[in-house]
Amino acid sequence: MDVKKILLIITGGIAAVKAPELIRRLTKHGFKVTPVLTKAAEKFVTPLSIAALARSKVYSDLFDLKDEVEMGHIELSRSADLILVAPATANIIAKMVSGISDDLASTILLATDTPVMVAPSMNVRMWDHPATQRNLALLDNDTVKLIGPNKGEMACGEYGLGRMAEVSEIVGSVEQFFHSGSLVGKHLLVTSGATREPIDPIRYITNRSSGTQGSAIAAALRDLGAQVSFVTGPTDVPVPLGVTAYHVETAQEMLDAVQELLPVDGAVFAAAVADWRVDGIQDKKIKKSTSGDVPELKFLENPDILAIVSQHAKRPKLVVGFAAETDDVIKNARNKLSRKGCDWIVANDVSSSTGIVGGQNNTVTILDKDGVEAWEELSKTEVAFRLAQRIVGTLA
Ligand code: CTP
Repeated sequence: MDVKKILLIITGGIAAVKAPELIRRLTKHGFKVTPVLTKAAEKFVTPLSIAALARSKVYSDLFDLKDEVEMGHIELSRSADLILVAPATANIIAKMVSGISDDLASTILLATDTPVMVAPSMNVRMWDHPATQRNLALLDNDTVKLIGPNKGEMACGEYGLGRMAEVSEIVGSVEQFFHSGSLVGKHLLVTSGATREPIDPIRYITNRSSGTQGSAIAAALRDLGAQVSFVTGPTDVPVPLGVTAYHVETAQEMLDAVQELLPVDGAVFAAAVADWRVDGIQDKKIKKSTSGDVPELKFLENPDILAIVSQHAKRPKLVVGFAAETDDVIKNARNKLSRKGCDWIVANDVSSSTGIVGGQNNTVTILDKDGVEAWEELSKTEVAFRLAQRIVGTLA
């Protein structure tokens, strides 16, 4: 197999602490990573940990005689298929634009004819400064591509643009650059989050789903090169970059959006859809009664989106459902598999003691016609990554 080589230049910003995770993910995706650290980056991460994760020598000194004999900086700059600068400080961006080469990282960037990707990371005021903005305008061209930055809370406590793109977004951009994702050319649909069923103009019924797992699945599929349509109920979790989001509130709206998107190659139904909607939604706020009577709510059953798509004339090749259970997890999940007619069920125990709903980790069991596969407790990102890999096995 043709292993793509990435020269990863880590410069000295606080986001350098994400470099180990970035290396781990790139390696998992099959890339060979050769790290270059600036002196400032060494204040945030140690060459030893970076070397161990990349299983590679770490380069940092322009004037290291031994390195120069083994692999000179010119050769280092030419040996990669892609140079990735992450995090990229305002300083390295300024050097790149001006052609300054006063350390190994900047010299490599000046000497190279390899495509470069840059994931900026800096304080919002540094990002907004006219000097940085001028530099960025000069930098973003055919050979240099910017990834991010994102808006958000910064390590310094301020809020704004300048946060380094998430590791999964960087990995996704690298995959897209190489068009190497195993799901390139495939269209995947993911539902996520909770639905909201209105009672009157200001009240609604919903559930505790945070949308974290669905969002992670959309990002993992995107990272493998898929075109992702993401149909989501209201959540606080940001929509992953590079996926097309369709925002809905009710189960009926979710069904309409999903049907509109068919046909797709595969669909993952991670949304926690309300089973019932209120019969007779009031168009005016229900007032408290002076006599102490409380309103009685009547419910109607919502359409089952997963079951409808599983039996649809435009059924995707692969339909994956979730099963949120508090008792008899496997037995109930197996029932759901046959009742709804999907190909796999990702079952999880959502009893409050597990902390899964609203939490960062998940313990899932995958059921399909061939059997049951129990996964150990993993982060929701890792569950998403493994599920995406399993989807590759069926769709690619
Ligand atoms: N689902 C759906 N539409 C619904 C209800 C559920 O598409 N109206 C999907 C969910 O996205 C999930 C699967 O069906 O993929 C199972 O959802 P779950 O809430 O576990 O099960 P229910 O079908 O609601 O059954 P029960 O409430 O009896 O557990």
